[in-house]
Amino acid sequence: MARIKILVTGGAGFIGGNFVQYMVNKYPQYDIYNLDLLTYAGDLTKHRDIENNDNYHFVKVDIANREQIITLFEKVKFDYVAHFAAESHVDRSITDPEIFVRTNVLGTQVLLDAARKVGVKKFVHVSTDEVYGELDFDPTTFFTEETPLQPNSPYSASKASSDLLVRAYHETYGLPINITRCSNNYGPFHFPEKLIPLTISRILNDEKVPVYGDGKNIRDWLHVLDHCAAIDLVLHEGISGEVYNVGGHNERTNLEVVKTIINTLGKSEDLIEFVTDRLGHDKRYAIDPTKLEKLGWKPTFTFETGIAQTISWYLDNKWWWEQIISGEYQQYFKKQYSIIAD
Ligand code: NAD
Ligand code: TYD
Repeated sequence: MARIKILVTGGAGFIGGNFVQYMVNKYPQYDIYNLDLLTYAGDLTKHRDIENNDNYHFVKVDIANREQIITLFEKVKFDYVAHFAAESHVDRSITDPEIFVRTNVLGTQVLLDAARKVGVKKFVHVSTDEVYGELDFDPTTFFTEETPLQPNSPYSASKASSDLLVRAYHETYGLPINITRCSNNYGPFHFPEKLIPLTISRILNDEKVPVYGDGKNIRDWLHVLDHCAAIDLVLHEGISGEVYNVGGHNERTNLEVVKTIINTLGKSEDLIEFVTDRLGHDKRYAIDPTKLEKLGWKPTFTFETGIAQTISWYLDNKWWWEQIISGEYQQYFKKQYSIIAD
């Protein structure tokens, strides 16, 4: 019997990378193809433990390169696609929105065309709760799958646009799809431009941590492995055409998150530096995951167990993040945080 072939786009990044490792280890009977352009956010050193596995394959391609993508799909004939590849950082989308439209919108459309052409069994589009816009601070309100899309940043607007294209390919051409909308992830191999890995890496180096505005904005944090399990479930069991929200009810203010990390590492809260707020900064995100729970998903980490695991991982894996915060990252940091950059 032919082996099942699963294409994971963005598998050199944070969540896609964790998903590739999760799938390679869980399903030796599947072939897992990691497709990635290796932008600033992608690196293959994270896969050193699996790179020689027979069921792991890597291909360097730009998802917006129509010719190469179509040729690849026609050659390999993937059965399933889990689409993670994207420009993913809100701050970068505020400085330079254009690449977000190219990668997230055009790139997704190219993949949809290729998936349609070879007739994949399922196209899972990994989206974000940020497409719903923001909630106010009333703790009884949550994003459901019926919440209208009201994206506020160029990043979330590009993701919402790609969601609509995925939906349209299902309605128009009958492409089997699911869209997942997850809350903020954290865990191993998280690129240190995002709040949690930025804080851990800077605190470990006794450097100031930039907190935007008053630090009271709320995010709903999910460990990346719980997200991976959700995508695995949706890929296999999700009802075609459906949207599934992913989140574990772990709402924290940014200040609470930063203080938890500082206190766990036994450092001083004087390292917190309040800096100018992000433009259009969404107040609060919070997910109602009931629909996914009914499909059989349950998170395994609480925020406390997950953040403890993540902090220990960064302590044990300096080899990974130290190579990243040297080089090009330094220039990004200086430009983004001129107030506290040395
Ligand atoms: P990331 O920035 O860590 O990784 C993105 C990956 O995509 C990188 O490996 C990069 O090289 C690759 N890539 C970028 N442009 C490409 C292109 N043109 N062609 C091929 N590959 C390209 O992102 P992440 O945090 O792992 O997010 C993955 C997905 O999950 C994104 O679609 C994001 O919108 C979504 N998401 C992220 C979060 C979060 O908290 N990080 C939460 C919910 C959903
Ligand atoms: P981030 O990790 O960029 O994820 P997102 O914007 O997709 O939610 O940011 C999480 C929260 O932390 C968000 O409210 C912005 C805030 N933040 C800071 O306060 N300082 C920082 O240096 C960064 C990167 C984020």
